[in-house]
Amino acid sequence: METIQLKDLTFSISIPYEEIRKSIAQVAEKINRDYKNTNPLFVVVLNGAFMFAADLMKFINIDCTISFVKLSSYEGTKSTQNVKQLLGLNEELTGRKVIIVEDIVDTGITIRETIKAMELSKPADIQVCTLLLKPDALKVPLSIKYICMEIPNEFVVGYGLDYDGLGRNLKDIYTLVK
Ligand code: IMP
Ligand code: MG
Repeated sequence: METIQLKDLTFSISIPYEEIRKSIAQVAEKINRDYKNTNPLFVVVLNGAFMFAADLMKFINIDCTISFVKLSSYEGTKSTQNVKQLLGLNEELTGRKVIIVEDIVDTGITIRETIKAMELSKPADIQVCTLLLKPDALKVPLSIKYICMEIPNEFVVGYGLDYDGLGRNLKDIYTLVK
């Protein structure tokens, strides 16, 4: 088993890149069909979604625009409850079909707050595209249209996801060894 050490924690590989890529290609195909001729705006939530977005967008073959926002709400391995504000959205959302690109939906609080903040600009529609979903961790009712992979309620790193800033560069996804 391939393991890595990040600070005090050990992680073992759980989703190899090839599997990640296949799941992204499938979701991208759906988006290509659903958003044909609608010029959607992809809003990528940094930092965690940077690698996912880069791969996802390579499979998107319809007209679209891409924007990046930042919000940080996560420290260590436990989600904090207070979500900070949305930074960097200077693209006009009004009347647009928006697709939020997220790395992972855990409790769902971050994405709910992000949607709320964006609704103020009156987009035509907002959907979420997440690389990972932890169904057992969800605390708020959410309908997420595009999910690449569902995972157990365990802490993961790699492919953009971090533990205290480390691990984002890893090509595969790793799960915390308990
Ligand atoms: P939520 O508000 O609980 O849904 O948390 C969402 C955010 O927490 C994500 O955008 C990630 O930045 C972070 N997060 C949640 N679970 C994990 C994990 O397993 N590893 C790394 N970051 C995570
Ligand atoms: Mg994130």
